This record gives sequence, structure tokens and C-alpha cells, in this order.
Amino acid sequence: IVLVQDASLPAAVKMGIANKDVELGDGKKKGARVKVSGRIHRLRAQKQATFITLIDGYGHLQCVLQSGDLTKTYDALTFAQGTSLTLYGEMRKVPDGQQAPDGRELHVDYYEVIGASPGDDEAITNKVSVSQNQWDQGMLDNRHLVLRGDNAASLMKLRSQVEWAFIKTYNDMKFVKVSPPALVQTQVEGGATLFKVPYYDEEAYLTQSSQLYLETVLPSLGNVYCIEKSFRAEKSLTRRHLSEYSHVEAELDFVTFDDLLEHLEELMCRVIDSVLGDPETAAFLKELNPTFARPQRPFMRMRYSDAIDWLNAQDPPILNEEDKPHVFGDDIAEAAERKMTDAINRPIFLTHFPAEIKAFYMKKDPQDRRVTESVDCLMPGVGEIVGGSMRMEDLDELLQAYKTQGIDAKDYYWYTDQRKYGTSPHGGYGLGLERFLAWMANQHTVRTTCLYPRFMGRCKP
Ligand code: 4AD
Repeated sequence: IVLVQDASLPAAVKMGIANKDVELGDGKKKGARVKVSGRIHRLRAQKQATFITLIDGYGHLQCVLQSGDLTKTYDALTFAQGTSLTLYGEMRKVPDGQQAPDGRELHVDYYEVIGASPGDDEAITNKVSVSQNQWDQGMLDNRHLVLRGDNAASLMKLRSQVEWAFIKTYNDMKFVKVSPPALVQTQVEGGATLFKVPYYDEEAYLTQSSQLYLETVLPSLGNVYCIEKSFRAEKSLTRRHLSEYSHVEAELDFVTFDDLLEHLEELMCRVIDSVLGDPETAAFLKELNPTFARPQRPFMRMRYSDAIDWLNAQDPPILNEEDKPHVFGDDIAEAAERKMTDAINRPIFLTHFPAEIKAFYMKKDPQDRRVTESVDCLMPGVGEIVGGSMRMEDLDELLQAYKTQGIDAKDYYWYTDQRKYGTSPHGGYGLGLERFLAWMANQHTVRTTCLYPRFMGRCKP
């Protein structure tokens, strides 16, 4: 059977699925005749009619093909998930008692297939299925197909809006956006997780953090931020570690540690309000995490030493990585941190970590020089999503810190110069976008929040 378009019908007007201003027919009154392009998302062939759920990246549209010539063509008999086509027909309200996206459906009178999709062994439905664990090898190899699913699409749309909310909020707060380099020759967060890359005749690294570069432009640009990729050669597979992640980083000049914490709380709450304030984005979030609520302010503030006491006071005590009670100076490992955060079940600013377990650049607390003016923001379900601190201001102290950590001061001359040419009390932080999203959207792992996650053992597709 070869379909021919009925020339007596009104000319079809091109429409996208998101377009809601289309006249709907109701059986008596005629609706607009439109043409819509997209791909088959779901297909249901029944005796009376074939139902197609069409997607175009902006929404879902139910399309009805009455059984007859329309459903008997070679194209129709080989329709499959993924097939791209243009459908022509009349837009109608769905009959009472039935449901369809936006309460409407397209009554198809003609179509043209643009790109067929296989329906055999190679069918999308055979490669990825919702019942499969998203993280088995097959699903990871087919991430490009998994991304066609509703869940992944909602998450990517949420991500886009969250990133935009950060940009908007920083802009409202008068922060200047900069774009520091990805190829660098200095480390920020320790040599163990550096990715080395050949750089002409030299060696370079993929950046672990843009922090040091942000600090250099405070004098001329004021408060600054960036949203760039950071890279960490993490040698463990956890549900919150990636090799490449999106790092939201900011640096604030002439502030106290309290100012920094205040700002961080304000930023996160404004971003959340912006997401919840947009009906479409709020709907994606509700689909993913129906019980999400904006956290109460102020966030809980807890010193590291109190966290150690808290861990030891539990019954049974939450032990350190050597299965011993925590002592001052221990790193609070991921498992312990998560147990504490989940038990307290609200955002926590964990502050004043011992200097030995923190990065070289962190400022010591003038009241207690064993500890630093540092903060991790912990969220239920994920744990640490932000790491920040005040920065060492004093030139000699910084030079000493390089020595202690075995860092060659020569490579850091441009960073050191900040202290030489008019130092200032300043601080900043880095927020892992994927971890923020995993918290908001209640994801088991940060991997689902990435388009194409990178972690040890996986660098494709
Ligand atoms: O605590 P981190 O290592 O701090 C820094 O890099 C600072 N220099 C940032 C700054 O002050 N400008 O990392 C900051 C945040 C973490 O809290 C976490 O959310 C995220 O970056 N992060 C990772 N996310 C995914 N995978 C990894 N391997 C991550 N490592 C850090």
C-alpha cells in the first residue's frame, strides 16, 4: 500500500510537541490540521488502531492511526522504537475517561518516515530495557540509547536548569564568570589523583580545581566564579566519585569565614528556589524525587571535633577505617560521613578540620591553630557536596606550607604573588554539580547525573 495525502484536507501547519496553542477538535468541531516531526517512543498496535507516543525532545504526543491503509503500509508494519517520522493529522481532545499527555491526541491522516529504526534483534528495546540495571556493562556501553529514556531525559533537563540557576544566581550576586585553563602544571588537591598528559616537550596535568586561578583575579574582577570540568584520577569505584566532573567554584574577597558560610547557604537556597519556581523544572524534579523540599535555614553548623565526638557517642560507635573509634586527626571516611549525615538528615556545614588532613592553602583558625577555617557541606543521601575554606593570607606561612607538603614553590610563583602584591582575607569553595544533583534528584549514584559518566575503567562512549 502506498499512502497518498488527501488534497482536499486543509494544509497542515508545522508544530512542535511543546506547542499548546493549537485548536483542539472534539469530534463535532474540527481541530487544527498539523504536521509534527519526532521519533516513536512507544508503540501499541491494537485491533482498532495503532497508538504511537511521539517525542521530539520537548514533550510527548499521543498519535492515533485508525486501522486500515494507514496501518498496512510496509513502513507501518515495520514501525519501531526510534523511527523518525513526520505525522499529519487533526489535533483533538482525548475522549472523556481516557488519558494522554496534555489531554490531546493527533488523529493521523498521513505520515512520512524519515529514518527507520530496526525492530529485529538490533531493536533499541533489545539493547536497553528499563528492567535492566542502568549500571551493568551493557547499559553503560549503550548509554547513548539509555539517554533516550524518560528518566534520563528528565534528569538531563533538570541538570540544564540547575546549571542555569547557578549562573543566574551568581550573576544576580554580581559575581564575574571566568574560564580558567584545563591544562595546568600545578596540583591543588594532592598529587595522588592527578591525570598527567604530555604537553609538547613538557608534562602537564588535567586540572583538579580552578581555585588557584580564581584567586588570582580577585584584585581586578572582585568576586568570581566558574563552572568548568575538574579531573581526578580516583582509583576507587564509589557511588560519588567520577574521573571527570562539573565543578562549580567561586572565590570571595575581603570576607570572614562566617561570611563565606552565609554566602554558601544563600547561594544553594537561591538555586533551589529558582528550580522550584519554574513549573516545568519543578515537574521534572517531582518526577525524580517526589518528596524533595527546600532545606530549612540556617543549615546546621558542626565543628569537626564535635563530629568525632558524635561518631563515638553512637551505640554502637561509628568506627574509623581501621575499625577503631575515631580520634582527632582522623579523616572521616565516606561511609562514616554518610551514616552521620543520614542520621542527622539535614544539611550540615562541617567546619574546622585539622590542618594535617586538609590542603596546603587553607587558613588556620587564629583561635585554634590545630584546625583550619574549612567547611564541607554534607547532604543526606550523598554526604559531601561542597568543600571550601578561607585561604592562607601570609606569604611566609604559604612558603612554609609548600615545604611541608613537598610542593616546589617555583611552579606556584603566580599563586604566591597574590600574597606579595597586596594580600587579603579571602575564601571560596567548590561544589560538585553531579553530587548536588544526586542529592536533589535522590539518585543512588552521581553517574546517572552525567551525560556520559567517566570513572575508573570507563571512558566510552
Ligand atoms: O573538596 P574538593 O577536592 O575541593 C577542591 O577542589 C577545592 N579546591 C575547591 C575550591 O575551594 N575551589 O572538591 C570540591 C567538591 C567536592 O565537595 C565534591 O562535591 C566534588 O568537588 N568532587 C567530586 N565530584 C565527583 N567526583 C570526584 N572525584 C570529586 N572530587 C571532588
